[in-house]
Amino acid sequence: MIHVKKAFVIGHPIKHSRSPLIHGSWIAEHGIEGSYEAIDVAPDELPAFVERLRQGEFAGGNVTIPHKEAVFALCDSVDPLATTIGAVNTLVRRSDGQIHGFNTDYMGFLGNLDQNAPGWDQNLEVALVLGAGGAARAILVALQSRSIPIILLNRTRATADRLASELGGDITIGALDEVNEAAPLAGLIINTTSVGMHGSRFEDFDLGELRPDTLVTDIVYVPLVTPLLADARALGLRTVDGLGMLLHQAVPGFEAWFGVRPEVTQALRAKIEATL
Ligand code: ATR
Repeated sequence: MIHVKKAFVIGHPIKHSRSPLIHGSWIAEHGIEGSYEAIDVAPDELPAFVERLRQGEFAGGNVTIPHKEAVFALCDSVDPLATTIGAVNTLVRRSDGQIHGFNTDYMGFLGNLDQNAPGWDQNLEVALVLGAGGAARAILVALQSRSIPIILLNRTRATADRLASELGGDITIGALDEVNEAAPLAGLIINTTSVGMHGSRFEDFDLGELRPDTLVTDIVYVPLVTPLLADARALGLRTVDGLGMLLHQAVPGFEAWFGVRPEVTQALRAKIEATL
């Protein structure tokens, strides 16, 4: 009998998820007897769905909005970094039926920069993170995993203050209107705010003062080239867009469920880019 391994992404709604296209491409590429499907699971159905996973119907899957926090209580074990980030986005069913939850967003951030800006974490005096919301947490954890000092600026300074105290480590905080003082110190600038979606921009951010070797990256990937990235490119600065983070965060889950470490290729990127 051929054992077909099944994986999923659950969310509510779920139809816009690009994960089935990413994982489906890897399943085909590696000739795996398996599937990856998007399943709409309403919040009150989450415990019953996780029980289906526990019973062995699936090898594991991804968890997205609105379940990334609620699923903690349904896991048998959770990776400590997922607890720090405050979100589980990947589940694996172990052979004894125990469900392990972890978070691959910080790995996606690192994988994206490692692939597209090799050496980015060497001789980096400080990284500047803009925004202190949910998405910022994974980025901060990623930077701390490489021992990189951080300046964290947020429109609401108190939120940055709370987040920095919670995480500990070398984080200097400030308000977003201090960006023009902070940015020239940074070798890496990461936008984690929603500024950039729908073509919006940081009106008062003067990129002209940045060091010429500064790397600018954005976690927003619709549009792929945000105004921040476009402005940085126009000045000849290095940039990495946010699509690579989405692709790279999928790698550890696929490897855990199907036993093959997949690659983020230019062809895969082009396929997903065509859907944006
Ligand atoms: P996510 O989970 O995607 O990070 P979030 O938790 O709502 O979303 O966080 C949004 C982030 O974008 C916050 O840092 C927010 O700043 P505040 O804490 O001051 O709200 C930031 N943000 C949203 N709109 C912004 C704007 N127009 N200018 C600057 N920052 C903005």
